[in-house]
Amino acid sequence: MKVETIELPKKYHGAVEHWRRHNFKDYELLMDDWEKYFPTDEKFCLCAKMEVGTPDVIQIGEQKGEKKRIKPDELTENQAMHLLAIIKAQASTEFGSIQQHSGTLDRAMDDQDRAWVMRVMAEELRHGYQMLHLLLSEDWSHVSGGITGEQMVEEILSMTTGSHVLDSFNLDYDSFVDNVTFAAIIDRVGKYQLTMQKVCAYKPMADSMPPMLREEAFHLAAGVIPMRRWAQKAAQGDPLISMHMMQDSLNKWVPRGLEMFGDECGGHTNLKYGFKDLSNRAAVEQYYVAITKMTRDIYARFLRARFPDYSPEKIETTLRELESTRGTHHGVAFADLLRVPDKRFFRRKGEHAFLMVGIDGETFEDAEQYLHYLAKHLNDGYIASRDMRNYADCLRKVAAGEMTRDQAVKAMPKLKRVGGSCPCSRSVRWVMEEANGEQQTVAVRNH
Ligand SMILES: [Fe+2]
Ligand SMILES: [Fe+2]
Repeated sequence: MKVETIELPKKYHGAVEHWRRHNFKDYELLMDDWEKYFPTDEKFCLCAKMEVGTPDVIQIGEQKGEKKRIKPDELTENQAMHLLAIIKAQASTEFGSIQQHSGTLDRAMDDQDRAWVMRVMAEELRHGYQMLHLLLSEDWSHVSGGITGEQMVEEILSMTTGSHVLDSFNLDYDSFVDNVTFAAIIDRVGKYQLTMQKVCAYKPMADSMPPMLREEAFHLAAGVIPMRRWAQKAAQGDPLISMHMMQDSLNKWVPRGLEMFGDECGGHTNLKYGFKDLSNRAAVEQYYVAITKMTRDIYARFLRARFPDYSPEKIETTLRELESTRGTHHGVAFADLLRVPDKRFFRRKGEHAFLMVGIDGETFEDAEQYLHYLAKHLNDGYIASRDMRNYADCLRKVAAGEMTRDQAVKAMPKLKRVGGSCPCSRSVRWVMEEANGEQQTVAVRNH
């Protein structure tokens, strides 16, 4: 593999560095300790990385067999608009996840786990930088509605938790359990998106994918490895971590992860345009199988730690027995293990939006009953959040017939910070954006 590295023009490189000083305060610490935690890995570099030697020919869609596009104006106008939205959303997620991680990073119980998450944050910064490179290195003005590259960068760097494009990046973490679960569950969605985009008919996008994917593999490990260790500790009776805590976090993130693929019925435009090689449903199905396998591997470790004398065969039989009977085995109940919630659980987008379905597929008729159920299966910090209140308001209206499910999908308001691209700008305003595009000011800060 051969990679070309590119630095953004000074002004934009500086803007990302500035953003990083506000949103990722311990970056310098990570750089100082890099050799200690990652002695065999190349040191982090804030730059765009383009894979060299990828296919030149479009692999899928209506233009299959033609030469890949290397400039936005070689795409049709619709293609260019569509791809611009993908790149902007991708950039927003990369920067957004750094803001989320930084909220609870210092609460890590273990220095190594903390260092691993910091490396994830640095690499997300690079991924965001990579997307800015795609926006700035070519002219998108014919499809950006007159918005310049500089304005697009300003817009992306001014987003905060609450105003990002995708819901998963608008939820605060409630504890370090979320840092880890997010890496295992949400970064895995990223892995699928990047893998699908390896075929992208726009070559600079396709060339961006392999280096990002290699880093994404580390992000998954930063999630799965602590989860495995926690499961073993929980099995040994550690009072400070439990399967229950991990389950609550899965319940929070899995539904959002499933929604990141887009509506189950959609994704065909991406196939037609040659931007991705799977429809949303095909991708989400593969993802669901992968997270189910990952979760089973974690609870198998729980069982092995609880019954160290069991042979691997006996562990497997015990697992099967617990899964089929949903009963108990020498004090370990099926409910004590981890499980991936039903695809319809706690959804607010896609074909299962605002249905009232439990983790195991049980259905509810009454909104209050369902909200009580959710309150039992999510962590307290999250239950008491604005996000949950907005969800509950919409759910109640849907259940009462005052709103259709479709309207509810669009009605989840977003918080947006306007006025100044940088947290040190002198005056900012937060607005709540309603489904109809109207804005309502909810907070103002003046210096
Ligand atoms: Fe990323
Ligand atoms: Fe990632």
